[in-house]
Amino acid sequence: MKLDSKIFVAGHNGLVGTAIKKALLSKGYQNLVLKTRSELDLSSTIKVEEFFQKEKPEYVFLAAAKVGGIIANNTYRADFIYENLMIQNNIIYSAYKNGVKKLLFLGSSCIYPKNAPQPIKEEYLLTDTLEYTNEPYAIAKIAGLKMCEAFNLQYGCNFISVMPTNLYGENDNFDLNTSHVLPALIRKFYEGKLNKSNSVEVWGSGNPRREFLHSSDMAQACIYIMENINFNDLINNSKEIRNTHINIGYGSDVSIKELATLIKNIVGFDGEIIYDKSKPDGTYQKLLDTSKLNSLGWKPKITLEKGVKEVFEWYINQKK
Ligand SMILES: NC(=O)c1ccc[n+]([C@@H]2O[C@H](COP(=O)([O-])OP(=O)(O)OC[C@H]3O[C@@H](n4cnc5c(N)ncnc54)[C@H](OP(=O)(O)O)[C@@H]3O)[C@@H](O)[C@H]2O)c1
Repeated sequence: MKLDSKIFVAGHNGLVGTAIKKALLSKGYQNLVLKTRSELDLSSTIKVEEFFQKEKPEYVFLAAAKVGGIIANNTYRADFIYENLMIQNNIIYSAYKNGVKKLLFLGSSCIYPKNAPQPIKEEYLLTDTLEYTNEPYAIAKIAGLKMCEAFNLQYGCNFISVMPTNLYGENDNFDLNTSHVLPALIRKFYEGKLNKSNSVEVWGSGNPRREFLHSSDMAQACIYIMENINFNDLINNSKEIRNTHINIGYGSDVSIKELATLIKNIVGFDGEIIYDKSKPDGTYQKLLDTSKLNSLGWKPKITLEKGVKEVFEWYINQKK
């Protein structure tokens, strides 16, 4: 990728897309093509085809998707599979037709079986049953990574799929009905502090373990792969080429109790934490094996403590 290469960041206003755009600009990439949803609906085949024919981007970061929590995924099952398949099919096919040099497709760790051994290696894909609640979303993501792999094998494309762990960062969703655990806890402890509450309630036992990666680190990993890795680096001598996707994670996890205590201290809430054990815990552990990414030469830099401090500062600045 050259500094004047034409780069399309699909989903540039989302959590990951914002971080990718920011990191590209700070590295000196100037020729970014950015379209809001009202300017370009990525689920429209005709509009996406016209856009690629007109703009001819050389590189594509596919960070646009319909994303949501457990309740949204489970309730809007049809929308999650349909919209994600449409967005990724349109972009991947147009990228092939218009000679895009490299494309990075963002999937998710929910592609792996519900009870996969820990830490989760890339080759555990399609070895067992998926988590029911987000099965339609996961199937769309699996189709996306298989589509990239198939276009690489049949047409010699250079489309790389990455599977990130739980992400957090600026522009995260802090709505308590739909947010992920980390931004939800920042908001709960901050409001607890402002309201001088005696306690803050955390869902579940606090025992499950989760991995968190800062969206800036995620963006750095995406750009590193775009700059340095090609599909040929990801295949072995086997006749059956599969599992060429790359996990992107922090490499270690924390319990929800450890996370809650860290956030409580950073926010400065001095009340008690109450664990509501009547609420479900979910899977006990979900940790990605990141040895493939590490062996390709990339490691994260932002510790959870530093990352949470930054996100908390960003959150309170938005409130001013
Ligand atoms: N967040 C995580 O923890 C996490 C973890 C693993 C993987 N990922 C993956 O990373 C990718 C990005 O996730 P994210 O967290 O950044 O999601 P996000 O914050 O919801 O951003 C998604 C972006 O896609 C855009 N978009 C959705 N449908 C569109 C359409 N039809 N036309 C045009 N734009 C559309 C959205 O536009 P609007 O702003 O108009 O809605 C938004 O800017 C996804 O593939 C997701 O699976 C995320």
